[in-house]
Amino acid sequence: MKITAIRGMRDLLPEDTFWFEKLEAAARHVFGLYNFDEIRTPVVEPTELFTRAVGEETDIVGKEMYTFADRDGASLTLRPEATASVARAYVEHRLWLRPGLAKLYYIGPMFRRERPQRGRYRQFYQIGAEIMGGNSPWIDSELLAMLQHLLDVCGITGAELVLNSVGCALDRPTYYAALREALSSRLSDMCADCQRRAVSNPLRVFDCKVERDQPIIAQLPSIESFLEPNCRNHFAQLRQLLDQHAIAYRIDPRLVRGLDYYTSTAFEFVHGALGAQNALLGGGRYDGLTQELGAPAEAGGGIGFAIGADRFVMAMQAADRAATLARLQVMLIPITPAELSPLLALAQRLRRAGVRVEVAEPGRKLGKSLELASKLGAPFALVAGADEIASGKWKLKTLATSAQVDVTDDELLARLQAKGAGA
Ligand code: HAM
Repeated sequence: MKITAIRGMRDLLPEDTFWFEKLEAAARHVFGLYNFDEIRTPVVEPTELFTRAVGEETDIVGKEMYTFADRDGASLTLRPEATASVARAYVEHRLWLRPGLAKLYYIGPMFRRERPQRGRYRQFYQIGAEIMGGNSPWIDSELLAMLQHLLDVCGITGAELVLNSVGCALDRPTYYAALREALSSRLSDMCADCQRRAVSNPLRVFDCKVERDQPIIAQLPSIESFLEPNCRNHFAQLRQLLDQHAIAYRIDPRLVRGLDYYTSTAFEFVHGALGAQNALLGGGRYDGLTQELGAPAEAGGGIGFAIGADRFVMAMQAADRAATLARLQVMLIPITPAELSPLLALAQRLRRAGVRVEVAEPGRKLGKSLELASKLGAPFALVAGADEIASGKWKLKTLATSAQVDVTDDELLARLQAKGAGA
């Protein structure tokens, strides 16, 4: 039987990685301007990290994790997200003792056993950033400004910031009581998940996707009127900062986000060109998460986001269809095996000067090698036989016109550099 990739896990071929690299380079550049540094955490973590941080009643922990027993019986999980891992690392290495806020970004694969569809995979890629150690609203607005900056650098227009406050530990009891009260008479008509969540964690009822339950969910009270003064104030100040800095947003009182660690600020950027899976990225504040994982109060609060890179590149492609792969600049063609070694040496010299070079298999028909050079997108081919090696003058062919000139090493380099990569 033919072996293929696991359902929902795909190969990213050069025409895909081209876009991922572009996005990653832009993200590293922009995050650097805001003084973030990279963190790399393991892909596998103790299962308990996610049950505690993300929450037992979430879809992620309840239905989507790749969990397995290690050979010693320990329960391990392929990370479904990385905020829990970064928070674990922050606590493990006591990063709050370092000067300033901890501003960390990460790039890598995440794993969730969801139903695969366009923009939704079981192995997908996130580019995320977290700011830990502070809880002021200006930190939230800086993070959102950074995201707007990245969208601008990537040429993405048409993304909309959707914003909400999901409240905090102080207002949860009254809000949960109100939700339970509103649900009590309708619960027997709802799905098993909702019935269970109404008791254990009523906020998670909003994550329900069952069609029949939606009219009931639409009638539930919003958190808005339950926010206690600190939370309400934080949200008002954040909105004021966003207004002052001309960052547009839409308030959606129904945006609760599907992870338990969120407190106060919650947000997503959605994009119209993406279809059903329209969330380009999501994030929010999680004051209390590092304390839940063992940090003292002085470790402070946190806020962050994760970009769904698979979706973000779809939006980049929609914005910039004309961008093309970096192209080969020159193909070096040895007529016989005798010219191979000098051409390999020439290839090294050119590459060290920044030219993208390929060498053809020696002894092939010249026509075949020239055809391959064209197919690979090279504007030039350099053909070398015994005469060229002896004279130190190369024959440089422009493939589009078949015009040919004799050039020295220096002239060759000048011509290739003038034409540049991607030409
Ligand atoms: P999340 O909303 O679960 O948040 O995921 C963030 C983004 O990852 C989503 O908006 C989406 O673009 C992408 N994503 C999620 N699942 C999939 C999937 N199956 N296939 C493709 N893309 C997907 C988090 O993960 C939080 N850790 C974000 C965060 C960081 N909050 C605070 N700090």
